[in-house]
Amino acid sequence: MAPINFKFAVVAVLAGCIPSVTAAPAPASSSTDSKCRKTSVAILGAGMAGITAAQALHNASVSDFVIIEYQDRIGGRAWHGNFGSKSDGSPYVIEYGCNWIQGLGNPGGPENPVYSLAKKYHLANTYSDYDSILTYDETGYTDYTDLIDEYGTAYDKAAAKAGRLLLQNLQDQTMRAGLSIAGWNPKHGDMKRQAAEWWNWDWEAAFPPEESSFIFGVAGSNVTFNQFSDANNLVIDPRGYSAIIDGEASTFLTKNDTRLLLNTRITNITYSDHGVTVYNHDGSCVSADYAITTFSLGVLQSNSIGFSPELPLWKKESIQNFAMGTYTKIFLQFNETFWPEDTQYFLYASPTTRGYYPVWQSLSTEGFMPGSNIIFATVIGDESYRIEQQTDEETKAEAMEVLRQMFPNVTIPEPIAFTYPRWTSEPWSFGSYSNWPAGTSLLAHQNLRANAGRLWFAGEATSAEYFGFLHGAWFEGREAGAQVAALLQGRPCVQYENGRLCGERKHYATLTGTSPLSQYSLLNGWAVSSFYDSGDD
Ligand SMILES: Cc1cc2nc3c(=O)[nH]c(=O)nc-3n(C[C@H](O)[C@H](O)[C@H](O)COP(=O)(O)OP(=O)(O)OC[C@H]3O[C@@H](n4cnc5c(N)ncnc54)[C@H](O)[C@@H]3O)c2cc1C
Ligand SMILES: *[C@@H]1O[C@H](CO)[C@@H](O)[C@H](O)[C@H]1NC(C)=O
Ligand SMILES: *[C@@H]1O[C@H](CO)[C@@H](O)[C@H](O)[C@H]1NC(C)=O
Ligand SMILES: *[C@@H]1O[C@H](CO)[C@@H](O)[C@H](O)[C@H]1NC(C)=O
Ligand SMILES: *[C@@H]1O[C@H](CO)[C@@H](O)[C@H](O)[C@H]1NC(C)=O
Ligand SMILES: *[C@@H]1O[C@H](CO)[C@@H](O)[C@H](O)[C@H]1NC(C)=O
Ligand SMILES: *[C@@H]1O[C@H](CO)[C@@H](O)[C@H](O)[C@H]1NC(C)=O
Repeated sequence: MAPINFKFAVVAVLAGCIPSVTAAPAPASSSTDSKCRKTSVAILGAGMAGITAAQALHNASVSDFVIIEYQDRIGGRAWHGNFGSKSDGSPYVIEYGCNWIQGLGNPGGPENPVYSLAKKYHLANTYSDYDSILTYDETGYTDYTDLIDEYGTAYDKAAAKAGRLLLQNLQDQTMRAGLSIAGWNPKHGDMKRQAAEWWNWDWEAAFPPEESSFIFGVAGSNVTFNQFSDANNLVIDPRGYSAIIDGEASTFLTKNDTRLLLNTRITNITYSDHGVTVYNHDGSCVSADYAITTFSLGVLQSNSIGFSPELPLWKKESIQNFAMGTYTKIFLQFNETFWPEDTQYFLYASPTTRGYYPVWQSLSTEGFMPGSNIIFATVIGDESYRIEQQTDEETKAEAMEVLRQMFPNVTIPEPIAFTYPRWTSEPWSFGSYSNWPAGTSLLAHQNLRANAGRLWFAGEATSAEYFGFLHGAWFEGREAGAQVAALLQGRPCVQYENGRLCGERKHYATLTGTSPLSQYSLLNGWAVSSFYDSGDD
């Protein structure tokens, strides 16, 4: 296998004649402010996209940048915390945000760059076995795993149809319609089929099939799981998943590097075709030739940052049209493992409510954190919003009632530790990750990633092919950093492994609802095909 440094290297066109960095002239305009700290590039946010954008600048010999970050740490939605206790009294480390490396890569094939980083930093991770699952309802164990297979058969048929819609430039549909036509059409009261569907769809998309794009839901899944591989590894590293982002940051930032401003909340951004000025809550400001925002879609949607001038309509529409999901993991530690110890997943079908504490995941299982007696449930969407309004005690009582239904023959002790994050109200994220609603198009998405003057946009949500994933943030950070470096240096183009990009990004002021196949190109964020032989590569 080729090493990552080779595979993901950005090759400068005109290699060997990269001019040294000279700040582009910044003519006097409303977007520059003489009182502010000056830099060539301001990077807004120090998550995966921001750190990768900074590294791309560094790799192109642009060292004059400033990274501005709300929190007191690097990592963004790669966010972990201490939880419960080991027998020696020290805590376990759990991931509130991203947890899996999704789609690792097959030998000889393309590798997920996050998996390459996991190997580089010896990040502890274990294969998630989705066949290691037991199914339950309100009466306890009851085997309905055949329904998971039934969904799978219909999904494969639907996926092929989604491919035809993409190729023929036909109107997008809801994932619901796609599944129904393919033969999966569960009744609202068929709670076991609803649970099987949640396990297969909502758990990944953070939205139900009604609220998901058919074409791009399938295409996104294809690009990650058929291009790389269908394996998902759960990260269980005591340093946290963010260790790979910290590690990469340390390749170009020194300790106490003055180019990294932590604990700095951006409140206002002034931008033009000549430069960008960023104003912070503490009264400080940074004037830059270019800025790259990596704010989550939730932050952009929240209007918590003031833009001057207002963002153009095509940008505001794209921000509000794409959807920010919420995905909530609810952690419980007990004094014993009362669930089957050798099983990874437990699916629960509530008798009344779809998506009510549906998936339970054991960390006590071998390969994860054996002996931890930790299990966690995941909810999304409306259930997330509901429990975010509850106290911990209220949510704990609900979770315990579900566990008692699932395991009626054991006396379940009270948990010794309990926690869950409230993603929707985190002011630096306002949700978990993005999803494409039905009826959108590639060109509509391009407006989310296109630059407005010298203000560039990167992050998980700007990835057309890997939205929702940590590797999406990596690819988008790299591209924005490399493109801005080229513009600063007067280089026409940047060569990527799947083509070259030149100049600013294109946007589409008028959208017609579909995108002809010829538009599926690197220029619109579509670097690789979504058509692969399923299963192998
Ligand atoms: C619960 C959950 C589960 C997930 N599971 C997975 C998974 O298993 N696998 C996977 O691949 N991906 C997963 N993801 C997605 C993955 O975490 C994200 O795609 C990725 O971390 C996003 O990186 P980013 O750099 O685009 O954004 P972020 O990490 O959000 O970085 C943006 C940064 O901007 C900062 N910021 C925001 N507002 C301001 C402001 N006003 N001023 C200054 N700074 C600001 C933020 O603090 C943040 O550090 C999950 C996410 C969540 C939340
Ligand atoms: C920067 O270069 C290093 C070394 O070649 C490479 O490992 C890394 O992936 C590059 N980063 C980006 C964002 O291109
Ligand atoms: C997804 O992959 C399947 C299996 O390879 C293929 O049949 C289908 O056309 C693809 N769909 C899209 C939208 O790329
Ligand atoms: C970084 O700054 C802190 C606080 O100012 C100081 O204690 C520490 O020694 C510094 N570290 C380095 C490596 O300079
Ligand atoms: C900053 O943005 C807020 C909106 O978030 C706006 O109300 C305020 O007027 C802006 N301030 C300036 C100086 O533009
Ligand atoms: C629980 O106990 C009941 C009654 O004794 C029995 O019928 C049932 O099979 C048991 N369930 C499990 C999951 O062991
Ligand atoms: C766990 O605690 C319960 C009381 O809440 C107790 O009955 C049980 O024996 C304990 N289990 C272990 C393994 O200590």
